[in-house]
Amino acid sequence: MKHNNSWISLIVLFLVMLLVMAGCRPEPSTTPSFPLTSTPATTNNTSQVPPSNSPVPPSNSPPPPSTTTTVLTFEQAAVNGAAVFAAFCAGCHGAEGQGGIGPALIGTDVELDDYGTADVLLGFISSEMPQNAPGSLQTQQYLEVTAYLLVKNNIVWPGNPFDPAKFNGIRLPD
Ligand code: HEC
Repeated sequence: MKHNNSWISLIVLFLVMLLVMAGCRPEPSTTPSFPLTSTPATTNNTSQVPPSNSPVPPSNSPPPPSTTTTVLTFEQAAVNGAAVFAAFCAGCHGAEGQGGIGPALIGTDVELDDYGTADVLLGFISSEMPQNAPGSLQTQQYLEVTAYLLVKNNIVWPGNPFDPAKFNGIRLPD
């Protein structure tokens, strides 16, 4: 009896095709969408990806150890200081600190010895510079740009720990 079923199926299929063709005739532009309908289903796969990331209850976890400046070396602080210098100082003191509108800050022409020690130099820079916006930088930026000047002028050894509390012990040579 399968033959009969196949016949019925073929007839039904034929009738359905007739109906589809008849229905599509007024607007043929919709027919191309029929073979494409299977593709959108694949995009649902992404719904598997986000499982519950939400459980975020570790209120007991200690705050990350604050990276204080004391763990830095002068060399590391000077890396940040170089960026500060380039952004806020180089326009007047030269890209290499060689001098410009403002006096030289790096090299043999520098006369930072007037300030005596690094903490006095830091105080001057913090309160007077950048000359067009004195005191406008963050404390850390002033520390780092001062470290940059100290390293570049070979006043400190780059491997020394960067400890601003000891700036008063760093003498500025002639
Ligand atoms: C708008 C220009 C300008 C900018 C920007 C500027 N300076 Fe100056 N700076 C000057 C001038 C002009 C002088 C000299 C007059 C004075 O000492 O006030 C000077 C003096 C200095 C001195 C003293 C030099 C000496 O021989 O006595 C230091 C140190 C200094 N600047 C550091 C800095 C640092 C660090 C920055 C960036 C954070 C900076 N300056 C940004 C114009 C500038």
